[in-house]
Amino acid sequence: MSHADDQQGTRRDFLYYATAGAGVVVTGAAVWPLVNQMNPSADVLALASIRVDISAVDPGTQLTVLWQGKPVFIRSRTEEEIAAARAVDLADLPDQLAENANLDGAVDASDENRALSEDGVWLVQMGVCTHLGCVPLGESGDFGGWFCPCHGSHYDTSGRIRRGPAPRNLPIPVASFVDETTIQLG
Ligand code: FES
Repeated sequence: MSHADDQQGTRRDFLYYATAGAGVVVTGAAVWPLVNQMNPSADVLALASIRVDISAVDPGTQLTVLWQGKPVFIRSRTEEEIAAARAVDLADLPDQLAENANLDGAVDASDENRALSEDGVWLVQMGVCTHLGCVPLGESGDFGGWFCPCHGSHYDTSGRIRRGPAPRNLPIPVASFVDETTIQLG
């Protein structure tokens, strides 16, 4: 095999693995692979709702999907994360509102008002910092939830802002269960 063939083979392998990786990160035919995030096409931006297969999301991990041009975090929380979120004194929260599009705008920011499932396992929220729109990092920050490195905003395991310049909790989009392993956004 020539050197050029060698390189070609390597490149093909890379593309193969990259594609397989994208399949793991984003499942479901209706979901646009995250790899295209930098260049969302008009038809993708216009999609009013998508269905996401969550069957491969293990406890303590997060699936990030792109919806209407923005990342959405779908997290399967551990018992510890749920307990930590529910032990918080609501008076300590800078943003006292649930910021949950599925509920009346005035409800408080208790974890029960933010989790998608009653058992608290599933938390679905926009992956967009409420300060200036960066994408926060998971399992980071002083409260074990998300951390936005742009200007140092710390969110807890319920996605509520706890410290830093962000003014509001991570917003929860319109979301619902289609069945046990499928969540619909929008
Ligand atoms: S954009 Fe997140 S802290 Fe500024």
